Amino acid sequence: MSSRKIIKSKYFFEEDFVESLAEVPVEKTEAWASGAELKVVGKPTQRKDGYDKVSGSAQYTFDISLPKMAFAKTLRSPHPHARILNIDVSKAKKLPGVLEIITHQNTPKIPWYFGMSFLFDTTLRFEGDEVACVAAESEHIAEQALQLIRVEYEELPFTIEAGQAMSEAAPKIHDTNILRGRPDTYERGDIEKGFAEADVVLEETFTTQTAVHNTTEPHCSVVNWDGDRLTVWDSTQGIFSVRDGIADSLGIPASHVRVIKKYMGGGFGSKLAAGKYTVMAALLAKKIGRPVKIALDRKEMNLAVGNRPDSVQKLKIGAKKDGTLTAMVHESYGASGAYPSGAACSWPFRTIYQCPNLNTIDYSVYINAGPGRPMRAPGHVQGTFGMDSIIDDMAEKIGMDPLEFRLKNYAEIDQVGNAPYTSKRLHECYQQGAAAIGWYQKRRPAGSSPGKIKKGIGMASQIWWGGGGPPAYATLKLNRDGSATVIAGTQDLGTGTYTFIAQVAAEVLEIPLDNINVILGDTGVAPYGPSSGGSTTAPSISPAVRDAAEQMKTKLISGAAAILEVPERELSYRNAVISAITDSEKKLGISDVVRQMRERVLVTTGLRNANPEGYTINSFGAQFAEVEVDIDTGKIRLLKVVAAHDVGRILNPLTSDNQFHGGIIQGIGFALMEERIMDPMTGKTLTTNLHNYKVPTVMDTPTEIEVIIVSDSDPLISNTGVKGIGEPAHIPTAAAIANAVYNAIGVRMKSLPMTPDKILHALFG
Ligand code: MOS
Repeated sequence: MSSRKIIKSKYFFEEDFVESLAEVPVEKTEAWASGAELKVVGKPTQRKDGYDKVSGSAQYTFDISLPKMAFAKTLRSPHPHARILNIDVSKAKKLPGVLEIITHQNTPKIPWYFGMSFLFDTTLRFEGDEVACVAAESEHIAEQALQLIRVEYEELPFTIEAGQAMSEAAPKIHDTNILRGRPDTYERGDIEKGFAEADVVLEETFTTQTAVHNTTEPHCSVVNWDGDRLTVWDSTQGIFSVRDGIADSLGIPASHVRVIKKYMGGGFGSKLAAGKYTVMAALLAKKIGRPVKIALDRKEMNLAVGNRPDSVQKLKIGAKKDGTLTAMVHESYGASGAYPSGAACSWPFRTIYQCPNLNTIDYSVYINAGPGRPMRAPGHVQGTFGMDSIIDDMAEKIGMDPLEFRLKNYAEIDQVGNAPYTSKRLHECYQQGAAAIGWYQKRRPAGSSPGKIKKGIGMASQIWWGGGGPPAYATLKLNRDGSATVIAGTQDLGTGTYTFIAQVAAEVLEIPLDNINVILGDTGVAPYGPSSGGSTTAPSISPAVRDAAEQMKTKLISGAAAILEVPERELSYRNAVISAITDSEKKLGISDVVRQMRERVLVTTGLRNANPEGYTINSFGAQFAEVEVDIDTGKIRLLKVVAAHDVGRILNPLTSDNQFHGGIIQGIGFALMEERIMDPMTGKTLTTNLHNYKVPTVMDTPTEIEVIIVSDSDPLISNTGVKGIGEPAHIPTAAAIANAVYNAIGVRMKSLPMTPDKILHALFG
């Protein structure tokens, strides 16, 4: 169990396949079987972090306060595109309480955004781009100092709309405004032949808006130098990626940077890498010889640290009268912002429905706006809205029930990788979800709902990656009183990682949950753990925790064998007691074994196994929405959402439900209200607070959310059989709502968000 090897590994993380070498166990621990009777795993378990959170004692990064700590604030570009001609900080420096100011004039050129820019670049490519950073005795003084910095800008022509930015005449943001200078493309089969075979061909254009992560907890770092060693408290999804990003930026050894993250109020993809703010704080702290806190405000978050690219999707699909899809074409472009993340959104289109002839082409386009970042299922949320909308329209055209149409075009294997899935239970998602929403009893023909308040039901499918993979490690320490500590180099974004790690260890070692302490989010003590994104945390780390616990069990049995003088194979382990099978008098508690070893603490380190070869790992699901549309006001109200998913084993139904509820509510935001709006005249963003950028409140949530998990394990993946749920929970929500709205009012909404004005316009022109 503890022998290891290094393999080539590949798994999907957020937007791309990540290939790397990975250390894995030679033999995978056998997976807990489907339907296995487990005592702790899979049982509703209160969060280990619950008390800290509800009592207010949980320490978030902002709560870190160090002696002599100074505060930093950032001066940001007021222009969407400009060159800095001169900066004069002399007046600001004279303000009492100002400690230091950094700009491009006194800072080394530190490459940023994949080498496309610098920490302080003299060309500013979006409103909110960093110009200077001030450290002062208080946040208030730092803010005052920003007003005293004089900057001479040369304003440049700007472009803030992807379609325009693609044109020859548009101002250039980089050498070309198209990411990598070319679109992402994919094709299979013969598209001409496919359309020739079709009885019905549909062509439609769908658009989605730019959304902003707007995590509950804003981005924040506290930094402290101790000689040449740097400790960084950061609200991050990736402690190791932040550590390496900071070490590279500052040119210091990674061994001298320790990144700590304890509690966190969400990331959604906006906190995967080191932020400029963190490096600026570290530079300032070094100069003034004091710790520095830097906390972004809501406006800075909305401008500068990420967003979900918008999309324009031109879709064309062909089908036979019997419902067989014969050809599908997806062409899209979307705005990546001034620096990437990519805006491609055709992945679900390529795979989820069976179609032999298919082309996709996606352009990611630079505009003068804040950088795009992955956001909760990058590409899939936008793409699923377009795809599942036109799929519904095609079903209607050929006179088929939309669910029957999806079943007719069910893809048994992965059509892109041409490989079987480790598991696919989308059929059950469709059946159980449909039953829960009352699909066959309640659904009426589109637009036939009487009265002014029209009811409708719609659905959409989801496919996501979220299988995780190696490398991922967990260290387990067992003390002589039988209590244990698990240390992993991953982090809990608020999703429940602390709790499921304890559950897995408790399951194997049969010790009480309360006797297990979990330490996450500290590069100073943890073995490597992956960034928490792509719905990969639980599928990557839970098998490593189980491996560490199984190794510990083996070690304890070996120790007991030596003490009891009974061969290992004649010993059994039950309730943390090891006893001889043939002589029940001969037994030892695990703490007795540890006590007889002088180590005082036994240590094992577990590994995530390799993923199976020759298979594709995806999660699947279907969501169903029931809505009411008030045709006097144009307002949409959610009555019920059913989420039926195939996500492998659920480790903790309580925190899993949290994820599904959160994902659905965020999906309602994307469907109905969230939108970054920019002013075409000034290139400035108008929605930089939560008054103008609307996120759902409790008043916008459905009366009922029902979560159905159709899977109980995917044993081919790992010893825990887990697939991730964070993104699947979100993906199909907006598409299902759009289809429900169509069913209610009989008019197709092709643009998100479906705000009341758009509904009224669609209904009455
Ligand atoms: Mo990601 S978009 O941080 O799962």
